[in-house]
Amino acid sequence: MKDKTITTTITRRKFLATTGAALVFPAILPSSMLGFGRKTSPSNRINVGVIGCGGQGNGDTESFLRLAECRVVAACDVDQTRLADMVQKVNTQYGNQDCRGYRDFRELIARRDIDAVLIATPDHWHALIGVEAAKHKKDVYGEKPLARTIAEQQAIVKAVKKNHCIWQTGSQQRSDANFHKAAEIVRNGLIGKITRVEVGLPSGPKNPKMQQKVPATTPPPPELDYDMWIGPSMMMPYVGSRIHNNWRWNYNTGGGQLLDWIGHHGDIAHWGIDCDQSGPLEIEGEGDFPPADYNWNVCTRYRIEVKYPNDISMTIAGGHADIRSGVKWIGTEGWVWVNRGGFESSNPDWETLKELPEEMRKVKLYRSRDHTRNFLDCIKSRQATIAPAETAHHSSIPGHLGLIAMITGRSLKWDSQKEVIVDDAAASQMLSRPFRSPWKLA
Ligand SMILES: NC(=O)c1ccc[n+]([C@@H]2O[C@H](COP(=O)([O-])OP(=O)(O)OC[C@H]3O[C@@H](n4cnc5c(N)ncnc54)[C@H](O)[C@@H]3O)[C@@H](O)[C@H]2O)c1
Repeated sequence: MKDKTITTTITRRKFLATTGAALVFPAILPSSMLGFGRKTSPSNRINVGVIGCGGQGNGDTESFLRLAECRVVAACDVDQTRLADMVQKVNTQYGNQDCRGYRDFRELIARRDIDAVLIATPDHWHALIGVEAAKHKKDVYGEKPLARTIAEQQAIVKAVKKNHCIWQTGSQQRSDANFHKAAEIVRNGLIGKITRVEVGLPSGPKNPKMQQKVPATTPPPPELDYDMWIGPSMMMPYVGSRIHNNWRWNYNTGGGQLLDWIGHHGDIAHWGIDCDQSGPLEIEGEGDFPPADYNWNVCTRYRIEVKYPNDISMTIAGGHADIRSGVKWIGTEGWVWVNRGGFESSNPDWETLKELPEEMRKVKLYRSRDHTRNFLDCIKSRQATIAPAETAHHSSIPGHLGLIAMITGRSLKWDSQKEVIVDDAAASQMLSRPFRSPWKLA
């Protein structure tokens, strides 16, 4: 089993069964539509399994539940209470008891009647679960950022490509008409040649109670399988304020506001400058980091300066008053600023438009008006979604590199074709992180 990604216990029988199925039926149609040796889903529905039943997992699942084209048939969480709540929510919605609960995502992924999975776990799990799902030919709705490190993102991109999976990233701003209009204005040259981009992200966390030394540790609560929660990350003593929702404030499991939001406004900024397949040339940054012995260790205020090809400079900042929240592209002939529910531009006529008039759309950006439906449509058509893995990978790269530049205190040169940091061995080490045994990413 030399190509096995995950080396912890998955039975040989299950492994052979899934591998065999994959060889016979490449993922051209949703597997439940093929009806091979298992229940064919009614009305050719897409069977979905949910992995991670927290805040965003619940939100995303509600989006699946309202669409008749799919059926949520399974849920997985390492917190029994959260899992039970999710299973009950799904079963109440459908008026039956069909949704099954799992503690181990590998068992859910191994189910052959499941076509697609949602990955809404904390970031430190994205790569292992994403690659496992891809190897089982599942299509994936994966939350942003694509993964915890650039190397983990590369592993997802590779596995998705190799297994011909459909991947939708939870960068849902791409399916919002306001962001689409803004990016199309920029891409159609209506503000002239782009010279500068400003990306304003949140700062913080701001809760002063939490900005303190590590509190006394306690045993994990009985409903939580903490070993499976921490998974591939370094084992840390259990501290309640580092777990649900707050995992993002510690680099062992998350990436702070910077990596939480790079997959939103950073993603839109890249859309406008046509960087879905490429990336920056140089990057430097500075940030305010709490003392090393604090409970939460992510930087709370940051400023990253990025140089892109074609003399485009970008500032990505959180907590700096001169960089407004959202995305602002500045060109030789005008500017556009966009945020959730906000749009301003140098040309007031653009502000009242719902979308760019057809005659101005010489460059037509991918249009989706419902992120979840776009995923389901693409599962059927086998066309790329509006936010595929490769796009999400490139969108997050400035965030990952910015963090490395802040930690090393050095300006970094990035080769976006080879995807390597040039001439900086210590910084290059930070493109990946060690995995706690027995977890391995092939
Ligand atoms: N698209 C968006 O707008 C948006 C908004 C918020 C969060 N997110 C993303 O969604 C993801 C989840 O964030 P959240 O705020 O819901 O976090 P959360 O802590 O509320 O939920 C995560 C859940 O995953 C579970 N989990 C942990 N390890 C698991 C494992 N091995 N198997 C199964 N379940 C496991 C946890 O027990 C928890 O219930 C993150 O990647 C985050 O960046 C996206």
